[in-house]
Amino acid sequence: MKNDSMLAEAQQLVKGIHELPTIPEIATKVLDMFDRPDVELEELAETILVDQVMASRVIKIVNSPFFKPMHEIKSLKRALIYLGFRQIRHIALTCSIIDAFDGKSGVFDIKTFWEHSFGVGVVSKIIAQRIRYPEIEKAYIVGIVHDIGEVFLSYYMKDMFQKVVDQLQGTPRGFIEVEKEVLGTTHCELGFCLAKNWNFPTDYCDVIAHHHSPQDATCDPTLAAIVNLADLFCSVRHLDYGGREWVSFNLAEEPAWDILKNFSPNFGDMDVERFCYELDERVPEVQDLVTSLFEGMIKK
Ligand SMILES: [Fe+2]
Ligand SMILES: [Fe+2]
Repeated sequence: MKNDSMLAEAQQLVKGIHELPTIPEIATKVLDMFDRPDVELEELAETILVDQVMASRVIKIVNSPFFKPMHEIKSLKRALIYLGFRQIRHIALTCSIIDAFDGKSGVFDIKTFWEHSFGVGVVSKIIAQRIRYPEIEKAYIVGIVHDIGEVFLSYYMKDMFQKVVDQLQGTPRGFIEVEKEVLGTTHCELGFCLAKNWNFPTDYCDVIAHHHSPQDATCDPTLAAIVNLADLFCSVRHLDYGGREWVSFNLAEEPAWDILKNFSPNFGDMDVERFCYELDERVPEVQDLVTSLFEGMIKK
């Protein structure tokens, strides 16, 4: 990471937390399955069935209005067949991550926070498809977890984070800037430490660390740029959790825009207006998906 002192500060802060949030073993297993082309439906079903809460959530989600099955789906296996392998892996993984923070009260409204996260996931997936990035699923997942440091702050360092949120009110500054001032580090470094702790793959950790500065990413700047643009887009399309109403930017001047242009000749003739127009057309779809996922996930 570029800024060693901020990383050291984040490591210190994370170390100071006695009970770090954990994600169930199932999430790590599901993540591992991403990299194995030989995974069978049976194996995935068995993994998920170990966790009955997870299994019942998957069934609830498959029956939600977004996926609209003709008849009610009652078994996990049928759900797997109906939704398909990839979709199920996303759902299982994201349920686990949400669960890691469930039941705690934080500074954020958690539903709004996850709406932003899923919004960034879905938009990342759309951008990945548009530029023919080879790992579309990865873009989706890493989009969902990009701000994991923020939710950690909201739950585990409430007082300091409340300070950040208060200082943001009515000022044209972003989270990063105020976090640096108040905490000496940001949610990027904190998220990186947490993701490492959860044994996330290195390229996921790298994007979490650099989603606000994709040009500094060391593993895969293209993936970091996808998530960065998706994040910026969501922040101006009401798929955000606040604090950025005052922030203005021009997408075409963002380093991420150049990274994607270099990556894909396909993207080279794209202008910002058309890009936003294409994404705007998909916003209702993103909102529907987020609603469907939440109906099956959030307990309150
Ligand atoms: Fe962020
Ligand atoms: Fe974000």
